Amino acid sequence: MRAAVVRSFDHPPRYEEFATPEPTGDQVLVDVLAAGLHPRVRSGANGSHYTSDGRLPLIPGVDAVGRLPDGRRAYFVADDDAPGTMADQALLDPRRAVPLPDGADPVVVAAAMNPAMSSWVALRRRVSFTPGQSVLVLGATGNAGQMAVQIARHLGASRVVAAGRDAGRLETLTDLGATALVTLAGDPEQAAARLGEAAADVDVVIDYTWGAPTQLAIPALLTRRTDRSAALDWIQIGSTAGADITLPSFVLRAANLRIMGSGQGSLTAAGIVAELPALIEELAAGTLSAAARAVPLAEVERAWTAPVEPGRRLVLTPTA
Ligand SMILES: NC(=O)c1ccc[n+]([C@@H]2O[C@H](COP(=O)([O-])OP(=O)(O)OC[C@H]3O[C@@H](n4cnc5c(N)ncnc54)[C@H](OP(=O)(O)O)[C@@H]3O)[C@@H](O)[C@H]2O)c1
Repeated sequence: MRAAVVRSFDHPPRYEEFATPEPTGDQVLVDVLAAGLHPRVRSGANGSHYTSDGRLPLIPGVDAVGRLPDGRRAYFVADDDAPGTMADQALLDPRRAVPLPDGADPVVVAAAMNPAMSSWVALRRRVSFTPGQSVLVLGATGNAGQMAVQIARHLGASRVVAAGRDAGRLETLTDLGATALVTLAGDPEQAAARLGEAAADVDVVIDYTWGAPTQLAIPALLTRRTDRSAALDWIQIGSTAGADITLPSFVLRAANLRIMGSGQGSLTAAGIVAELPALIEELAAGTLSAAARAVPLAEVERAWTAPVEPGRRLVLTPTA
């Protein structure tokens, strides 16, 4: 088969011939229809993801839409130790797969499931989120952030504060359900103060930035909180602004702050997969909107390093 192949963590994958993987156990060999180029895929391909074991060569790709031998289509998440999905063919594990609803566009589903499941699973599995609560999405202008705004409203949030840097994309989030917008552009201290004004009393923070914006936002929110004993669930999901923060101990004593993460490891694969059917139905029904751009898999090497169109997920499509 043809595949995107990483032979060095310093170089983008090349489109090459690669041995077709052999199914074991319940696995099924499927034709890949569409596979998303998510940040998680990039970090796996450059060896920086926290699950990377350093082994090469590898085929990148953590999920895909595939066609089974009987013609049915399914969205699936690749097994951790199986080759990735950016290939003509990949191994589908039925325990990590959900049928594609009729009429669903494989490119849109491949683009949206990874960014969408980050907030969907976090709100449904990591916290006891109830309709009427309010949410801050920190880093709302990326693919995951714009899905998080929609998903929070869809799950019943009464108020969603969307915070991000890109002014143009921030504006679009009102149409997707944001009830307040906060720009993170400019002086970081001033941005934190704006966040404190707009979001001090939220119940949940969905955090895609970490780093400086988070480090400044935590005290900015907590010191302005009307009732500091009211729980604030801070869900760490991404780290677009930095891998680390410094957290003064007083913030944990002075308020009811509960920091947790949501991702591979803090949730079981079975727990994540159990949420996928409901999410894929919403995507197929068009309740949640996602922007995608399809590129032939043969162009993977060029596409990998081409400028990323913000807010639109690149999806690689094998043509075999
Ligand atoms: N744990 C999980 O389950 C899970 C699942 C999916 C994604 N993630 C993680 O979530 C993060 C976002 O993923 P994504 O798919 O939305 O990526 P994306 O589409 O590439 O969006 C990333 C956005 O981050 C923003 N950004 C970058 N640097 C920033 C900074 N210094 N301060 C503030 N914003 C900054 C940019 O928005 P502006 O142009 O506005 O600056 C950019 O659009 C990534 O870290 C990803 O790995 C985690």
